[in-house]
Amino acid sequence: MEYPKSQKYNTPELLAKIMGPNPFKLQEEMLQNHKIPAGSIVCDLGSGQGLTSVMLVKDYGFKVYAADLWSEPHVNCRFFYEMGLTPDQITPVKADAADLPFEKEFFDAVVSTDSYNFWGRDPEYLDAKLLPFVKSGGYLYICVPGMKKDCHDNLPKELLLSWTPEQLAYLRDINYWTEILNHSQDAEVISIYEMKGNNEELWEDWLNQENEIAINDRKAMGADGGKYLNFIAFVLRKK
Ligand SMILES: C[S@@+](CC[C@H](N)C(=O)[O-])C[C@H]1O[C@@H](n2cnc3c(N)ncnc32)[C@H](O)[C@@H]1O
Repeated sequence: MEYPKSQKYNTPELLAKIMGPNPFKLQEEMLQNHKIPAGSIVCDLGSGQGLTSVMLVKDYGFKVYAADLWSEPHVNCRFFYEMGLTPDQITPVKADAADLPFEKEFFDAVVSTDSYNFWGRDPEYLDAKLLPFVKSGGYLYICVPGMKKDCHDNLPKELLLSWTPEQLAYLRDINYWTEILNHSQDAEVISIYEMKGNNEELWEDWLNQENEIAINDRKAMGADGGKYLNFIAFVLRKK
C-alpha cells in the first residue's frame, strides 16, 4: 500500500526516533476512513518519542495529549517545538496507561500505535482504566504487533533468536485480542482485523536503524521470523 502522509516523515532524523516497525505507516493505515472529527481532543497512548503524536496534529488536525511512561515530557516538548507545534496543539504527559492522570471523560478519542500490547492484555483494563477517560460515543483506534497464530507453547526457533518467551508473550493473535476486547461492557467492538500494509517495508524501516534493539531484532527477521508475525488493529467505541 501507499503511505502518502508518512512520506514527509521519511527522514533519517525522524526515523532514528522510531521504536519499532514504522509507526507513521502503521498509524496511517489504521486511520484510513477513521471517524474522529478534526479538532477532537485525542490521547496518543504510549506515544513514545511523540512521532505519531506530531502526525496526529499535523495530518489529522487533532489536539493531542502525548501520554507515555518511558519517555521524558521535556524531551518530547522540545521535539514538538522543533516540529513547529505549539503547546496549544500538543501536550506531552508522563503517564502510566493503567493510572491515567486526566479528568474523567476528558478525551474525545484515543489512538495507540504499537504500544497497547504492553498493558492492554488484562481483560479488566478497558472498562476499569481507560474508558472512564473517554467521552460517550468516543472512538478508540489501536494497533499492536501480533502473531498470525498463537504458538506460545511451541515457540518457533526463528523468533527465539531475538526475543525471550517473556517478550513474545506480548505478541498475540486475533482470537486472543477478540476475547479480551469482547470482555468489555462499556465498549462496542466495531472491528478487529489483521492489517494489510506492507509488513516487510514496515520492518525494514526499523531494522535499518543503528540502535541495539533494532540490531537485535535483525536476527529473527533475517531468519524469516516475520512469517509468524502480523499487525492487528481494533476500533472500539465507548458506549
Ligand atoms: C514500541 S514503543 C511505541 C511508541 C510509539 N507509539 C511509536 O509507535 O513510536 C512502546 C511505548 O509504550 C510505552 N509504554 C509501555 N508501558 C506503558 C504504560 N504502562 N503506560 C504508558 N506507556 C507505556 C513505552 O513508554 C513506549 O514508549
